[in-house]
Amino acid sequence: MPRKNPIRTAVFPVAGRGTRFLPATKASPKEMLPIVDKPLIQYAAEEALAAGATNLVFITGSSKRAIEDHFDSDAELEAALEAQGKQDLLDSLRGILPASASCIYIRQPSPLGLGHAVLCARPVVGSEPFYVHLADDLIDAERPCLGQMADAFVERGGGSVLGVQTVDRRETDKYGIVAVEKINERLSRVRQIVEKPKPDEAPSNLAVVGRYLLSPTIFDKLEKIGRGAGGEIQLTDGIAALLGQEDVHAYAFEGKRYDCGSKLGYLEATVEYGLKHPQLGDAFADILARVLAQRLRRSA
Ligand code: UTP
Repeated sequence: MPRKNPIRTAVFPVAGRGTRFLPATKASPKEMLPIVDKPLIQYAAEEALAAGATNLVFITGSSKRAIEDHFDSDAELEAALEAQGKQDLLDSLRGILPASASCIYIRQPSPLGLGHAVLCARPVVGSEPFYVHLADDLIDAERPCLGQMADAFVERGGGSVLGVQTVDRRETDKYGIVAVEKINERLSRVRQIVEKPKPDEAPSNLAVVGRYLLSPTIFDKLEKIGRGAGGEIQLTDGIAALLGQEDVHAYAFEGKRYDCGSKLGYLEATVEYGLKHPQLGDAFADILARVLAQRLRRSA
């Protein structure tokens, strides 16, 4: 029975095509879209590091070089900032990753689905439980979401934990949906999981939203399942195959989630993070108030 958080590896699948954000994502990954001044993938790395991970595994595809460059040091840029005395900017570059973190990049040969992307991490993850983090689901929480899930994992003595949230019933066909048995206010036992069910066929409106803490048994399951919804190898189907063999829990995390894979969710996150920004927040609030007042006047 694990007593302290044993998770050391976080997997970031970033090999999707990001079609909802075209043309912005034609040559640049959606995970590099900035929320104020940091790309989504940096928020993701920070959450995983705060939850104890030190090995960051990126499953990459075509047009993803920018992610590697982001986490690599840039001696020339640092020297130029130093020469110009721009210490704040220099610190912001050097603070992207702590020295204790290692980045590993694995190429997914073609985007065959999230389950296939996770399976690509097998040689690095081995036989330990690990996090999977989808960077386009940005979660603003007092205690980082993955850390909350690690607490649940330790409390339950192992298994897998899925980060879940209730969604509008009309939107169940955008998510993996779980049917659960409640243990306490936040934690439940998963009895069923279905990928993107139609609203009238969904077993509930509790959706898995881009945070997973998975047992390594998932790899054996992903090896065996075939293509599922949308012709892709689905992580949801792999998790469904785990049920009955190992504990899978759903954890209703504390925090606000922004779906930054959609344009509206991305805009909402930009506004909220802009308003909370320590240097820009007040000035940004003034701009927003002015713009909204003009808009109201025009439509009156
Ligand atoms: P999405 O369903 O959001 O797909 O993938 P997408 O391709 O990124 O974006 P849209 O829908 O076309 O706009 C969920 C996550 O799984 C990763 C994506 O990078 C994203 O983080 N993924 C998906 C892979 O890494 N490989 C795949 O084959 C599919």
